[in-house]
Amino acid sequence: MGQRILITGGAGFIGSHTCLVLLEAGHELVVVDNFDNSSPEALRRVEELSERSALTVVEGDIRQPLVLDQAFRSRGAIDGVIHFAGLKAVGESVADPLRYWDVNLNGSRVLAAAMEQHGCRTLVFSSTSTVYGEPEQFPLREDMTTAPVHPYAQTKLAVEQMLEALCRSSSWRVACLRYFNPVGAHPSGQIGEDPLGVPNNLFPFITQVAAGRRDRLQVFGDDYPTNDGTGIRDYIHVMDLAEAHAVTLDHLLQQPVSSCLTLNIGTGTGLSVLDVVKGFETATGLTIPFDVVERRPGDVPRLQACPEQAKTVLGWTARRSLQEMCRDGWAWQQANPMGYRQPA
Ligand code: NAD
Ligand code: UD1
Repeated sequence: MGQRILITGGAGFIGSHTCLVLLEAGHELVVVDNFDNSSPEALRRVEELSERSALTVVEGDIRQPLVLDQAFRSRGAIDGVIHFAGLKAVGESVADPLRYWDVNLNGSRVLAAAMEQHGCRTLVFSSTSTVYGEPEQFPLREDMTTAPVHPYAQTKLAVEQMLEALCRSSSWRVACLRYFNPVGAHPSGQIGEDPLGVPNNLFPFITQVAAGRRDRLQVFGDDYPTNDGTGIRDYIHVMDLAEAHAVTLDHLLQQPVSSCLTLNIGTGTGLSVLDVVKGFETATGLTIPFDVVERRPGDVPRLQACPEQAKTVLGWTARRSLQEMCRDGWAWQQANPMGYRQPA
């Protein structure tokens, strides 16, 4: 049966794909987003793709209790919340830590208080694999040490801890999902990742080089202790990640009592920067010119999930290949060279 779900940050990269999966599963949605890093056009396209009009948008900031109050009242009682809204740029978090603590931690606190007030205690939270810091053992299991090394990851771990405390204090059902590296796009090419300015992340940089928006990729270091010297990550198709949210919420809603889950959401496969470049070239038939440059400050050599816990608890595993990540990400870039903005 369809549930009524509140999604914070639903217009963003991961949020928009998750909204589509949830609409297609028959749920009703209320999205709260201030469009700080996204466009309302993403949600318009999500509704169009789903061929349903079951999505209410409340434009505003999650730190404003009145905005959340409006969202909780807009369609009737909310069954569960998926909380994507937040800031995610590591370098920016080092330069402006107070903003990160305010939006990520305080925003989550205001949201949790609004949920209490409206009698909704079921929450899926966007955490990150960067909470593991600079690990030395792989694959990463959820019970391994967390040692975040920048304010972005510190704020995410603090929210995890706040939510664990809520589960201990009363009957909350919470899942903290530690995402590895989401990439790709919906296969329609209608929604995708739309970074403002120069992309920080590898994948959108590659697609922008392919599209001719950037000249060459810079590979940040080839002297890491990895197979080819470049950094290793666990890339996951954003549609697999979106589906993980739908499965997680279903699971939580079936729990009769308080429950607090922390789950890695990755594929379990580690790929180097050069593996991704080669994979993209194979999937698209294009060539990605690159230069090897200095390491990027703050980068770790390797992050790779053990995804077994999500499989055991949720029955979920990532299904899509690197080829699909590249093909779908490229389809989005080609159809939308300037993202959701109209070409000038
Ligand atoms: P995104 O920036 O595309 O989406 C975040 C959304 O939240 C945007 O639509 C933005 O406008 C909105 N938002 C930001 N601050 C807000 C506020 N104060 N009030 C209301 N809305 C606000 O990012 P994403 O890649 O979709 O990531 C979603 C979540 O997942 C974030 O919390 C991020 O930290 C986390 N995460 C992302 C990655 C990744 O690689 N993309 C990895 C791990 C964790
Ligand atoms: C980065 C963030 C991480 C955040 C994630 C999603 C840092 C240190 N980490 O993760 O906290 O959750 O983005 O926003 O910023 N690379 C290149 N050239 C590029 C870009 C990246 O060689 O132009 C390399 C990096 O060195 C790394 C790999 O590609 O080895 C992946 O980088 P990226 O996509 O930025 O992801 P993370 O660094 O894992």
